[in-house]
Amino acid sequence: MMSVPERRFLYGLAAKYYTGEGLIIDAGIFLGASTTCFGEGLRENANLQRAQAKWKQPVVSFERGIVTPTMPAFFKRNAVEFDPMPGDSFESLVRENLKPVSDIVDLRIGDIQETGKIEAPIEILFLDVLKLPEINKFVVENYFSRLIPGRSIVVQQDYFYDLLPYVKTYQEYFADYFTYIGEIGSTGVFLCKQRIPQEVTIGIEDKLEAEEQIRLATVALQRSIDPARRFLMALSKVRLLRKLLGAKAAQNYLQFVKSEYPDASEKAPLRLREALRNAELACRAKEASPLTAPLDA
Ligand SMILES: C[S@@+](CC[C@H](N)C(=O)[O-])C[C@H]1O[C@@H](n2cnc3c(N)ncnc32)[C@H](O)[C@@H]1O
Repeated sequence: MMSVPERRFLYGLAAKYYTGEGLIIDAGIFLGASTTCFGEGLRENANLQRAQAKWKQPVVSFERGIVTPTMPAFFKRNAVEFDPMPGDSFESLVRENLKPVSDIVDLRIGDIQETGKIEAPIEILFLDVLKLPEINKFVVENYFSRLIPGRSIVVQQDYFYDLLPYVKTYQEYFADYFTYIGEIGSTGVFLCKQRIPQEVTIGIEDKLEAEEQIRLATVALQRSIDPARRFLMALSKVRLLRKLLGAKAAQNYLQFVKSEYPDASEKAPLRLREALRNAELACRAKEASPLTAPLDA
């Protein structure tokens, strides 16, 4: 599901950046592409032995492993020999794909909120699993205080994305603890520069007033100078406004977004035009829609 540059980045992180000071967490792996990148990269890394002296399997990968309603069509389109029904398990497929790296990967099948206990520092935290606010909360509360200052990298695969505004507001809530490093595709990359005390990570939903959430969404929007990424971030902010301040405020901001990015509303690639259309529908809907994304998005 990830682009080639994103995969190359993960491979490079594991091959050239990783020192073995902490684990590599790969959260939300679907059929295992990201884990394969980490695993194959790690084989090229001279620090692998050092890491394995501490943890036999330095990569810990999480996947729910349940076929969603849209996955059967994905399997068909990509000629995957697997014809399941929604609700079936695809664990066997993931295990098969990860066989070449199974000696260095601790694969945990199930809901990360149940399987996600980690007792070690985390050096690389790859996140493609934050499709529900409660998963985001779990990850922040359980993993952020395990990041190593000056070393750990957080890779947010759903950053430059028109949905999931809480992924951005939570990450930006910790802006003082991170340096923004850059972007690849929809991914935003952050270096942890300061230890995050565990108590700071707890109950953020109760600490963030609406006004502060909106400010953090604006900070996130300004991370990239790329117009397409900024456009998607602005649409994500529209979703947040719809939820926090209602339809009128969201519609007013959407009008502003359309005037700021006229190209994106007319001649843009389909992906951007669809995102715009969905934001328009969300603004017009009677009820604010949940801020989630499909579990396999
Ligand atoms: C966008 S896909 C990941 C794509 C993957 N990173 C890749 O390299 O192709 C998101 C994945 O997260 C998984 N997921 C969603 N909720 C989860 C949960 N609570 N625990 C574990 N995995 C979950 C889904 O089953 C899905 O396979």
